[in-house]
Amino acid sequence: MKITLKLILSLIIIVAVVAFSFSYRQALQEEERLKNDLERRANIIADSLKISIEPLLSPDNIRHLQRIVDKFSNRERLVGIAVHDIRENLVLASTKLEPRLEESPKALAHNIQEVERLSAEHGEFITIGKEQWHAYSVPLTTEEKVSHVLTLFHDAAYIQERVNRIWINSFWRALVQAFLIALATFIIIYLNVMTPIKKATEWIKKIRQGEVPDKMDSQGQILLGPLAKEITKMAKSLQAARLSAEEEARLRHTTESLWTPERLKEFVRNKLQGRSLFVVSDREPYMHIKKEKTIECIVPASGLVTALEPILKACGGTWIAEGSGSADREMVDKDDKLKVPPDEPQYILRRIWVEKELEDGFYSGFSNEGLWPLCHIAHTRPIFRAKDWSAYSAVNQKFAKAVLQEIEGIAEPCILIQDYHFALLPKMIKAKRADARVAIFWHIPWPNAESFGICPWQKELLQGMLGADVAGFHTQFHCNNFIETVDRFLESRIDYERFTVNRENHTTLIKPFPISIDFGSSNGFSSEGKEGKENLLKKHGIQAEFLGVGVDRLDYTKGIIERFRAVEHLMEAYPEFQGKFTFAELGAPTRTMIAKYKEFMDEIVKEAERVNARFRNKNWQPILFLVKHHSHAEILPFYKAADVCLVTSLHDGMNLVAKEYVASREDERGTLILSQFTGAARELRDALIVNPYDIGQMAKAIKIALEMPEEEQTEKMKRMRNILKEHNVYRWASELVNELAQVRLDDVSGKEAKG
Ligand code: G6P
Repeated sequence: MKITLKLILSLIIIVAVVAFSFSYRQALQEEERLKNDLERRANIIADSLKISIEPLLSPDNIRHLQRIVDKFSNRERLVGIAVHDIRENLVLASTKLEPRLEESPKALAHNIQEVERLSAEHGEFITIGKEQWHAYSVPLTTEEKVSHVLTLFHDAAYIQERVNRIWINSFWRALVQAFLIALATFIIIYLNVMTPIKKATEWIKKIRQGEVPDKMDSQGQILLGPLAKEITKMAKSLQAARLSAEEEARLRHTTESLWTPERLKEFVRNKLQGRSLFVVSDREPYMHIKKEKTIECIVPASGLVTALEPILKACGGTWIAEGSGSADREMVDKDDKLKVPPDEPQYILRRIWVEKELEDGFYSGFSNEGLWPLCHIAHTRPIFRAKDWSAYSAVNQKFAKAVLQEIEGIAEPCILIQDYHFALLPKMIKAKRADARVAIFWHIPWPNAESFGICPWQKELLQGMLGADVAGFHTQFHCNNFIETVDRFLESRIDYERFTVNRENHTTLIKPFPISIDFGSSNGFSSEGKEGKENLLKKHGIQAEFLGVGVDRLDYTKGIIERFRAVEHLMEAYPEFQGKFTFAELGAPTRTMIAKYKEFMDEIVKEAERVNARFRNKNWQPILFLVKHHSHAEILPFYKAADVCLVTSLHDGMNLVAKEYVASREDERGTLILSQFTGAARELRDALIVNPYDIGQMAKAIKIALEMPEEEQTEKMKRMRNILKEHNVYRWASELVNELAQVRLDDVSGKEAKG
């Protein structure tokens, strides 16, 4: 309030000063104009009078002269006319003037002296009694000498009156202006500053008191609009920090400890002694895409990104990844870097550009037509081409160069390499920087030795991976497969006790690190995602009592066709669900340049159509297939509203959709149906575990889920949520970094001997 008053007062003072200055100028100008006007008039009369009087100047003509001056004296504002000799004696004056001149006999002295001195006219203001007059004197000559002075007296009071009126008008105008400005300022401040501040204060107070208010409304707030966004973010962080502190305190009592971003940050700082983290992956965490005239920033659909992003956000560091968005180049600096996340920069993204031809062989070819089907065993035949292999090696080499450039001058840097795109990278880095601590994490399954053996470059891939100090997989089963594969194809010393492989004086620890999610942030504010199932379906013209959800990249390993068939089977075997259950598949197109994926896409679209055609009615259909890239904010309402979530991968390293669904269910309701061939099935034992190849079993599982009593849903959900709370992605990162730090310490002497 004090500030508002100060502001209004200052404005009033400024308005008053400006108005006063203008009025002063206006009054001066008006006074000047009126005086000039008066002088001009006096001059005209005096000139004509002079012509009549001058020839008659002699005592004999006094009466005649008197008549002339009396006649001229009735002009407007003319008080009278007088003639003096140059010794200032009054010779004659108009009748009414004479007595007035006697009141101030010396009033005209200066005028007469000036006329005589200059032999020219002279005008000035004089005071007669209490009145202001204007006296205009002209010389009269006899025999070419100034002998007399003719003076015209005008009443000048009207000039002062006019000037006073200007001052009074200006005063009122300034007063009204100041009042209106003060009023307008007050209204603007009240509506756009005071009210929003009051609301924001109430909102922040609620947060401080631990309540969860609705989102802060920034609409219509001209001044606080941008602030509202920032305050909302701050409030969210505060709320998240409070939740994790409460959780930590709670878990401390049960002798366990929750991993939070803050704890991980501290831990990593300690372990790495301040050195920052380097992450390498093919997929980047943020992609910039051209959309007509704008550039949109999206988070790609990738389990790897979902898991790694919170870690970089917590610890900072550099993420090196391929720039693959159509506007990616426009967003980087001269070193191909940018700070992300765009809203709240916390770490650096360095983009690597891969030429189209290399990209075809590296990404589409060797990585996704070769290694992906090789490791997933989803009955899609891997394709290995020599030119793809050389592109794969070349791109690994390109990334190695970039990593080496980034870590130059940093002693013992810590590098986390991600996934099957970079099997050769660990060895390439270690060859140049033996002091680097390198881990490779394999996000997809590792097949058994026979299956892996069909790859023509099996040895090179294994040698490349064994350059790392730690090779991580999601499950013990995949670690076992890897060790067996190494045993089968490479000369090495395997220590089954410690689960290490030693080759050429270098030891690699093989260990499971089941990846996870940022449990806290998967819920969001409770108001988000509240959109009920009725609303979600209504947008698509569907009415249904039960909702199922699936969220996937449209990949042949995800068991999407099997899922649609399970829905079809449910409708056939349990017709009571016809018209009542709709399954929504949120599918993100993926790897569309690869023939297998294109065929798969056509196949699933047709399959959804076929099933829908069999059962749909006017207001209902069994499958709602939404094909597009969905943001987390778009997915969350489906998670929160779905009675059942279907994760039916034919083979999956972990599958984070299953974990996200559980994390989003703060209401402890809903059921997860989970393929036995996912890594997640080993942790989430309270899901309904299914074999995705068994369509009948899946249909039955959906029925069981939809009919499950609420208490049972809650019991299961609670147990799964507790597991995820504890085994979140921060714990995953802490374990990986911890192992990496220890392995290096154990091995230092060996490395030094080698180096
Ligand atoms: C899997 C892989 C990731 C990959 C993601 C998306 O989760 O393990 O490395 O990023 O699929 O696939 P994309 O080819 O689009 O990167």
